Amino acid sequence: MPNALRDDVYRRPLVTALERLGVGPGWRCVDVGAGGGDVSVALAEIVGVSGRVYAVDSDPRSRDETAAAAAAHSQVLAITQAGEDLLLPELVNLAFCRFLLMHVVEPSVVLGRMRRAVKPGGFLVAQEPITSAGRVGGKAMSMPDAPHPDVGALLPALARETGLEILDAWAEAPAGAGPGPVSEYLRSLTGVDPGDDPVVLPPLVTVIGRAG
Ligand SMILES: C[S@@+](CC[C@H](N)C(=O)[O-])C[C@H]1O[C@@H](n2cnc3c(N)ncnc32)[C@H](O)[C@@H]1O
Repeated sequence: MPNALRDDVYRRPLVTALERLGVGPGWRCVDVGAGGGDVSVALAEIVGVSGRVYAVDSDPRSRDETAAAAAAHSQVLAITQAGEDLLLPELVNLAFCRFLLMHVVEPSVVLGRMRRAVKPGGFLVAQEPITSAGRVGGKAMSMPDAPHPDVGALLPALARETGLEILDAWAEAPAGAGPGPVSEYLRSLTGVDPGDDPVVLPPLVTVIGRAG
């Protein structure tokens, strides 16, 4: 697995999911809500030059950031498009999203578009948090600005309702105390410095589904 994934605080569920699917050279993938393109670049390293990664985000700044991050990977195509309108030039082997559905108005609409972007027999992987299950110094976290901060708790049902066959679903959360990647991640995400307080980041629910 590429270093970009190993460096990520939420790396384990991502690596587990990608290894489970056997993502490899030549795969066509879409990363919806790609943000800065970290996952898109990591996918590009796996699928190689014979593959393709569509990095889709509704914010035009993401296209520039992803294009810069993926400058060495011509197989990454950064597109400004809302997940609600997802339309690609070809069907893909894998549709992926992480920390996206919590921010959209209607998660099931975006999941449905992602499902329709996948070839028959292809896969959809969604990773979304249960924010209120995170803890800082024993107290519950919250993210009041996101429309669906706990959408992870509904994710298996949402995926099933879109017609996906659920191959696996689980939740896991990075935890730590004192200086280190977990407290740094919390600080960058929320501006909160936990000091030496124990931190359990929001559990990330991963769902792996197969399109029929
Ligand atoms: C928290 S970031 C996640 C970035 C990346 N997926 C990750 O895991 O690091 C959420 C991203 O989703 C994008 N986004 C929000 N609503 C969207 C929508 N309706 N369609 C596509 N992208 C959207 C935002 O612009 C932002 O880049």
